[in-house]
Amino acid sequence: MKLPELCLVTLVGVTGSGKSTFARRHFAPSQVLSSDAFRAMVADDENDQSASADAFDALHYVAGKRLRAGRLTVVDATNVQRHAREALVAVAREHDVLPVAIVLDVPEAECWARTQTRPDRDFGRPVVARQHRDLRRSLRGLAREGFRQVHVLSGTDEIAAASISYEP
Ligand code: CTP
Ligand code: MG
Repeated sequence: MKLPELCLVTLVGVTGSGKSTFARRHFAPSQVLSSDAFRAMVADDENDQSASADAFDALHYVAGKRLRAGRLTVVDATNVQRHAREALVAVAREHDVLPVAIVLDVPEAECWARTQTRPDRDFGRPVVARQHRDLRRSLRGLAREGFRQVHVLSGTDEIAAASISYEP
């Protein structure tokens, strides 16, 4: 896929779909703003869901600072809910930067299998199922929400084969 040199990359995918793995592989650590890191920053615990509102406030703030400085920024959060994506499209627009969505569409069973093996996650299956439903509902409307490019990577093979280049 060919991304604009300056854009706000919104990763979209349920827990365990491989967003953080993808971000590590394709982007520099400093380009990636993860909801986990911001929860840890504001609440000492990357899994503290009650800290989400403050964590995302802080994430949006930092994203805005980066975009204003002309720095490509990647948001590593599930972003399966429309309101989460709308906030990111708004931040991008405020700074005249193109919002781009990269969707990691991985079968629910696979995400659940991975989640169960993780020491750092204690989500139950219903959480994965709900996120997966939210994702399915989201897929068709992403361009209408304002994302200027929508890249849907379906399944582990397509995700593994993805490569990113940049256009001026
Ligand atoms: N993983 C895997 N094969 C892949 C991608 C990821 O086995 N192709 C594993 C990772 O090693 C990790 C787990 O699956 O143990 C979840 O991957 P991660 O990138 O952390 O998923 P996220 O989408 O970031 O999950 P979360 O939303 O919970 O942060
Ligand atoms: Mg992650």
